[in-house]
Amino acid sequence: MCGKEGILKESVQKEKMSEENITKEDIVILAIESSCDETAAAVVRNGREVKSNIISSQIDLHTLYGGVVPEIASRKHIEKINQVIEAALAEAKVSFEEIDAIGVTYGPGLVGALLVGVAEAKAIAYAAKKPLIGVHHIEGHIAANFIEHPELKPPFFSLVVSGGHTHLVRVRDYGKFDIIGRTRDDAAGEAFDKVARAIGLGYPGGPKIDKVSKEGDPEAIAFPRAHVADAPYDFSFSGMKSAVLNYINGCRMKGEEFSQADVAASFQKAVTDVLVDNAMHAVEEYHIDKFAIAGGVASNSALRASMKEACERRGVKFYYPSPVYCTDNAAMIGAAAYYEYINGTRHGWDLNAVPNLKLGER
Ligand code: KG4
Ligand code: ZN
Repeated sequence: MCGKEGILKESVQKEKMSEENITKEDIVILAIESSCDETAAAVVRNGREVKSNIISSQIDLHTLYGGVVPEIASRKHIEKINQVIEAALAEAKVSFEEIDAIGVTYGPGLVGALLVGVAEAKAIAYAAKKPLIGVHHIEGHIAANFIEHPELKPPFFSLVVSGGHTHLVRVRDYGKFDIIGRTRDDAAGEAFDKVARAIGLGYPGGPKIDKVSKEGDPEAIAFPRAHVADAPYDFSFSGMKSAVLNYINGCRMKGEEFSQADVAASFQKAVTDVLVDNAMHAVEEYHIDKFAIAGGVASNSALRASMKEACERRGVKFYYPSPVYCTDNAAMIGAAAYYEYINGTRHGWDLNAVPNLKLGER
């Protein structure tokens, strides 16, 4: 155990003994996630050990509409939330009394969806007399890397690529972040979803593009690699998405068929190239030796392979979560909540959903 963690652990024990009259060493967190279209609950021990991870996905429901319908998402969360929490506690074989704190995503995300999780967490924390810890969704995505990599400790760099976010982040310490780069328009996952819809693959687009790309030629079509002038770590994906739409329309106007697999593979390569380029630029400028990817798009096979190769070439240790911890889940929220807990974060009964919560804000 490194010195920093040793100190943290000691202060936790003291705090627990004085404030909450509990002497056991382990910290067990019940975590709740409902920011988008997954209703999830998990029990996590000491931020790294997942005792249960229950996810109720609404994907099939939203597929009917070609994307997430916020009102339907909220209603479904209300329907499912008690079930997933009960299942998470049962699988972990713990009762509310054995839980040390309740962690919940309170932003960013869909306001109605977030509110379901926040209200539930407050009710449980109040009734069971447990501390309440609001967690930033992106902090959760980054913390997903702690679950399967016990040796991973800050400082490190992270590329967070999801349906709503594309951030290049310096993780200075647990819960301490500097955003070095971000998207100026679409998030990477959003671009995947829009392109998938345009080429007839449907929703959710990312996994479908990933799959069909394996049959295509990534060099078949030269889609642009957009870089933002004077902002080497920022991203822009809307131009790439428009280039795909123009290409398809051009083919249609000429009465030509286009290859779905070639378009998918070429688009995926263009997005991956830009993500890896900017990430490696940061690695070199900031002299980083550890890099972790996170978020739904982090399960993309081309991105994982390309990042791995680029990191290995530079002697940088590369981390990525298993796919189940890349897309939205509550285990990652439990991991982040643990480090917030030991850093002293506690929220009151006035905790609210914050749809545009900034990373690092309390
Ligand atoms: O992290 P996440 O579950 O939800 C948000 O916080 O947004 O990310 C969902 C996004 C969607 O846009 C989905 O298409 C994308 O992640 N995604 C992928 C893959 N799996 C999920 N994108 C590319 N390749 C994948 N294999
Ligand atoms: Zn997410």
